[in-house]
Amino acid sequence: MRKEFDVLAGVYERLRAPLAYKLFAGPFGKYDTAIKSVISALQGKRSDILLDVTTGTGLVFKEFLRVVDGEASIVGIDLSLGMLEQAKKYVKKKQMQDIHLIMADAENLPLLPMTFSKVACSGAFPGFPNPERALKEMSKVIKPGGRISILFLDEPTGYLMQRMLKHIEESHHVPVQLFRPDRIRSLLLDMGFRGVEITKLSGIWRVVTAQK
Ligand SMILES: C[S@@+](CC[C@H](N)C(=O)[O-])C[C@H]1O[C@@H](n2cnc3c(N)ncnc32)[C@H](O)[C@@H]1O
Repeated sequence: MRKEFDVLAGVYERLRAPLAYKLFAGPFGKYDTAIKSVISALQGKRSDILLDVTTGTGLVFKEFLRVVDGEASIVGIDLSLGMLEQAKKYVKKKQMQDIHLIMADAENLPLLPMTFSKVACSGAFPGFPNPERALKEMSKVIKPGGRISILFLDEPTGYLMQRMLKHIEESHHVPVQLFRPDRIRSLLLDMGFRGVEITKLSGIWRVVTAQK
């Protein structure tokens, strides 16, 4: 997966992100609308410290900065150096001081517990080998009272979507991780989150948010 993103980093925002989103959203699904939903669920404010898990080229933290008028401390982590380099170009161009980009695995975060007031994860959850482990890691680094927001895929009920999933799994040789809303809700409750809310987006995309 890391190699795929290293290669596609230059065209990620224009091509890869919108097209990959539409696979499970349908032709009218827009990725920027999904990112807006992930961020609005966080209820961002200027004093926030955001962890953007699998930050990629930084689409998510850019939307967060828009919401908080450019005033926030941000750490973005990703496994792909190519994607992080794209994010770094933006940070450099805008001369942002308080955005820190780290090459790291979402399933093994090299970060101190209870550090972040907001944690976002967009676009990568269906591709994690062990999404429950990633969820535990995110839960560990969030402060009491902090919010989490994750874009995930529900299980499809329609035949066409089920066929497409099977095809993607077979051609990539990896499972696509799907979560029934009840399952992700109970995982978050077990980790000490409350106020779990799940929003339906296009197709089988969903956003889950909760407070620690
Ligand atoms: C579809 S992109 C999403 C990027 C960004 N969050 C967005 O919404 O545009 C997926 C990103 O997840 C990263 N990624 C995948 N698995 C990861 C892992 N275990 N730890 C850290 N990053 C990972 C990839 O390198 C890639 O940049």
